[in-house]
Amino acid sequence: MNRRQFIQCGIVTIVATGGFPMFSSLSQLETVARENLHDNVAGLEADYIDILYLASLAPSGHNAQPWTVKLMNDHHWMIGTDSNRWLPVIDPENREALISIGAFLENLVVAANSKGYHVEYQIIAKNSKDKDIVEINLYKVGLPDTSDVKNIELRRTLRNNLLTDDLSREDIAFMIGKNKDDFHYFPRNTKEEQYLSEGTILANKLQTYQDSAQEELAKWVRWSNKDIRQFGNGLTTETMEIEGVARWYVKNFYSKQSVLEQSFREATIKKITEQVTNGSGWLLLTSMDSSVLELIDIGRKLQRMWLGIRERQIAIHPMNQLIEDVAMRGKLSSALGIAGDSQLLLRVGYIKNYPNPVSPRMSLQTIIV
Ligand SMILES: Cc1cc2nc3c(=O)[nH]c(=O)nc-3n(C[C@H](O)[C@H](O)[C@H](O)COP(=O)(O)O)c2cc1C
Repeated sequence: MNRRQFIQCGIVTIVATGGFPMFSSLSQLETVARENLHDNVAGLEADYIDILYLASLAPSGHNAQPWTVKLMNDHHWMIGTDSNRWLPVIDPENREALISIGAFLENLVVAANSKGYHVEYQIIAKNSKDKDIVEINLYKVGLPDTSDVKNIELRRTLRNNLLTDDLSREDIAFMIGKNKDDFHYFPRNTKEEQYLSEGTILANKLQTYQDSAQEELAKWVRWSNKDIRQFGNGLTTETMEIEGVARWYVKNFYSKQSVLEQSFREATIKKITEQVTNGSGWLLLTSMDSSVLELIDIGRKLQRMWLGIRERQIAIHPMNQLIEDVAMRGKLSSALGIAGDSQLLLRVGYIKNYPNPVSPRMSLQTIIV
């Protein structure tokens, strides 16, 4: 079913259902993203609950939230990962899982500092598949610093409506910060930008028609509010920015199977092609190598930058299919004339209206192991 057909079908169904079924299906329009996340965790002080909650607002591929937390005692924790929340098809080496855990760590440090805690940590994982990753100790050292945790709560991925205006020099300098060796910005209408845009469309075409990747995606799409409440993770119609009647329709009538249909694959490619024509350019994040240490570090740097850009009305849309494709990733450095391993590709641009976050999170009870 194509978009026009499903919108028409949606309208027919609205008219046809009438009465109670229609009423109950309308409840799907309610956004249920972040409920009860502050629930008590037995034996854990309020400060620590807040710190873990804020850490868990980090971004992650498919919103799989690969992190776990083992409480060795109240202020000594082990951040690890749950293999049920890895993405073995598109992320077989756990690159994206480790970048996401790096972003979680950055949130944790900012949140802890804001409450007057000093964080000492040690990366103990040697291999990207190790289950224990970062050992943490928190020490109360005094007064809270001035970090604004609102930035953690307001950060989000934005996929639509990025403007094509050039980023100001000042904003580019802000995004790159001290990471001149690792953050590479390619503005619109340069040959590098065109290479990345065309490459992203091609990589998306390849991935969308790779059944195993599409099946993995289907596993992480939460069409109904019931699924969002049950899992607290994954991609929702709200995060995919599907609006209006179309949102109501897919929430009520789409299933895992819909993601595998030809019409869904075609609509995806059409959307991606539209999205890459928007935005000011691409920001490519690289690192010296692909060790656990470097990937966690890139995740921290990504999140540090992401926390500061909302105030500048800059939106970020990670589009990592070009890097997920082994052959295409291998050619990136020489095509762009840069050194280092490519880890994450972000489409960036100004946005007029910055909506609040809508992606769900798992409860703390679920991530604490
Ligand atoms: C390592 C990594 C890779 C990602 N890759 C993509 C991607 O290829 N396409 C996309 O639309 N979003 C991508 N995202 C964004 C996530 O889908 C998003 O962070 C997640 O759904 C949670 O939403 P939030 O960032 O609004 O909290 C990626 C995020 C991370 C951290």
